Amino acid sequence: MEVLGIDFGGSGIKGAIVDAETGALLTDRHRIVTPQPATPEMVAETIVQLVRHFAWEGPVGCGFPALINHGVAMSASNIDKSWIGVNAETLFSEYTGLPVFVVNDADAAGIGELRFGAGNGADGVVLLLTIGTGIGSALLNDGVLLPSTEFGHIEFKGDIAERYCSDAARVRDGMTWEKWGKKFNKYLMYMEKLFSPNMFIIGGGVSKKMELFQHQLKVKAKVVPASLRNQAGIIGAACYAADRSK
Ligand code: BGC
Repeated sequence: MEVLGIDFGGSGIKGAIVDAETGALLTDRHRIVTPQPATPEMVAETIVQLVRHFAWEGPVGCGFPALINHGVAMSASNIDKSWIGVNAETLFSEYTGLPVFVVNDADAAGIGELRFGAGNGADGVVLLLTIGTGIGSALLNDGVLLPSTEFGHIEFKGDIAERYCSDAARVRDGMTWEKWGKKFNKYLMYMEKLFSPNMFIIGGGVSKKMELFQHQLKVKAKVVPASLRNQAGIIGAACYAADRSK
């Protein structure tokens, strides 16, 4: 099934047509700068622009950077607060006139990496962490996702983890990679203590910079970058929509 996969991020809203059976991108990725403020109406209009760009008429899957329950945004850590309580699926479907399925962005990346990327064929517990404006998480066991884990919001070092060691925290505090790597390692060690994964998959912007901090990571589990890179969310969102459309 062909699906328009969309990844709604803090800085860009990206989309591509995806073959959900193979994970292949059938078009180039198109990126539109995330409107500021990223209110429901502004984001919905951007989704419409993406649909028009691809002249798309089929199902749409959208990775969303907040806690999602049955299509409804339950949190808004890095997006406009007016999202809380809004049914993103209904809103996007109304704006586009197409069936839109909405899933947490990290869960989407988890689905993508698991089917077609670094987690493909991995058994046991795999924890994917997306490190960007916030920290998103996807916890998988033998290929099955436990959704909405939100480990970026776990209490850690007197605050929530994403304020301690997201990429935005690194930039905010002018941390060197050395300093940030040390902090990120502490967080990973804590995650390892709690969930004993066999593998950590690191997504988001920092996955392209792993050579700058990988030597500081002392966890026992393998730590690998998301192999679908910045396409994991788009591909995973498309798979999610294809599954829901069946
Ligand atoms: C949100 C998560 C999201 C993550 C990455 C966090 O602030 O709570 O739902 O997955 O950012 O975008």
